[in-house]
Amino acid sequence: MSSNIEELVGNIFTKEDISIQRTISKYMKLLFKWHETNNIVSSSNIDYVIKREIYDSYQLNNALSGNSFSDIGTGGGIPGIIMAILKPNMRVDLIDRKTTFINFLSLVKAELRLENVTVIKKDVLGPNIFFDTDTVVIKNFSNKKISKMKFEEKFSFMMNIIKNNGTASKAYMLTGSPVLELSEECVSKFSLSTTKISSPFFSTSRYIAEVRFEDTIDS
Ligand SMILES: C[S@@+](CC[C@H](N)C(=O)[O-])C[C@H]1O[C@@H](n2cnc3c(N)ncnc32)[C@H](O)[C@@H]1O
Repeated sequence: MSSNIEELVGNIFTKEDISIQRTISKYMKLLFKWHETNNIVSSSNIDYVIKREIYDSYQLNNALSGNSFSDIGTGGGIPGIIMAILKPNMRVDLIDRKTTFINFLSLVKAELRLENVTVIKKDVLGPNIFFDTDTVVIKNFSNKKISKMKFEEKFSFMMNIIKNNGTASKAYMLTGSPVLELSEECVSKFSLSTTKISSPFFSTSRYIAEVRFEDTIDS
């Protein structure tokens, strides 16, 4: 497993220092080791997870601006841990409601000595939620409460949660092609801009949706 991970990480993070590549490989090894017993990532296929989830997280990291970040529904730390490794001087809050993920993320923080990371066990749809970073990121957030909603309703619901509960001036969602079908009203309400992530590995593309709340129209 190890050499495969190092090679895959090396091929994606070619522009990063070898020390960064080593830290990302170490994170991947911890992730897949825990996955064997705790099911903490979307797939057991190392090749797929690194080329899809980690590559896309890297593109998101390179596209976003901000000084402090909350990754909500972070699960095994995707994309938050990748961002924390690549932005060691910026605060990254990793928020999830499940103990399994919180325990894993606490271990990753300690093992990788990520002093910029704060692991927070919280229900982001519950009362007293407050995001005190300037930026929020969200990827594959899934929850019973929103699972039956259509994409536009889900998107608006989550963006309103972020906007109304904290200090974030912008949010980024790493998502699929349904973002291209949002109504003009929704695009305009959230001052939404969308960037396609070109993948050298897959024909289906993912997208980075950027919302700026200072420009958001209240309704
Ligand atoms: C499909 S996973 C995605 C994890 C990660 N972002 C990724 O892309 O691999 C969805 C995550 O959202 C978390 N989640 C769902 N509802 C939540 C809530 N109300 N508050 C906090 N976390 C929640 C789940 O525990 C889970 O870790």
